[in-house]
Amino acid sequence: MGKILVIGAGGQLGTELTKALAEKYGNNAVIASDFQDAVKQKFSYCGFETLNVMDKAALALIVETHRISQIYHLAAILSAAGEKNPLHAWDLNMVGLLNVLEVAKTYKVDKVFWPSSIAVFGPNTIHEQTPQQTFKDPNTVYGISKLAGEHWCEYYYNTYGVDVRSIRYPGLIGYKSLPGGGTTDYAVDIYHKAALSQKFTCFLKEETYLPMMYMDDAINATLQLMDAAKESLSIRTSYNISGMSFSPKEIYQSILSFYPNFEIEYQPDFRQQIADSWPNSIDDSVARKDWNWKPAYDLSSMTATIVKNLPAYFNYNTTK
Ligand code: SER
Repeated sequence: MGKILVIGAGGQLGTELTKALAEKYGNNAVIASDFQDAVKQKFSYCGFETLNVMDKAALALIVETHRISQIYHLAAILSAAGEKNPLHAWDLNMVGLLNVLEVAKTYKVDKVFWPSSIAVFGPNTIHEQTPQQTFKDPNTVYGISKLAGEHWCEYYYNTYGVDVRSIRYPGLIGYKSLPGGGTTDYAVDIYHKAALSQKFTCFLKEETYLPMMYMDDAINATLQLMDAAKESLSIRTSYNISGMSFSPKEIYQSILSFYPNFEIEYQPDFRQQIADSWPNSIDDSVARKDWNWKPAYDLSSMTATIVKNLPAYFNYNTTK
């Protein structure tokens, strides 16, 4: 097997997925890449290349030089950040993906992973137990780019045989990196505020339910999908997967049992409208059937794990 290239390795998902890939395949098998040279220090355990995915020639050179056989393309601008500069978000999210697909086709890369999102759904999508195949009317640039990207992935698979696989991630929550401009990221930030004994100001209303997932489940799902036999995959756009669904009020309550003095206030902003357009919960029966997907964490086990590990990980000098 050739090497594995992770693009956007310095981000929230990349930080943990790169480590998991290195543990699974060996440190020498993995090349992390990011447009920010400064994140190199996170990846002293594996290879590193500075790469802006908009530069197709630079990407091709890395793939050729390192004999890359798998690409995990994670670089993207998320939902809330994307609304601040829509054309730039479209450019990065689409051109980046097309560069990866073209290079994968040209250099006959064995497999590509590309994340999609619950943001492909929109205000007129069925919100409860949203099915795999359903009406989609995304109303953020991020969501529009993910929906178009899903169809490009399917196109490259059908037309050129590029084995590209994808998951529609719910909001991903971990303790090893900071929030990255997403609407679901309040649920990352809230743990930091609790650990620092600060009051949390939530940008969503207390009853806003969104599909979420603990990072370990997301990593396992990704590795499982990439390991699955090609013949077992019936979806070449992107798979629905589900972990848990909760509201700001419920995550606050789950943290309260560890930090009884923790306070929250609600000041909904433009992100409320984005959250309202997304599903409350996801039907992932196709992923369960095709590649045996099953999550391990619920809200209380996730909170217990994060509360236990986050303060030391970030060197927060706090007493509960
Ligand atoms: N977590 C992402 C966001 O909120 C959704 O994929 O933008």
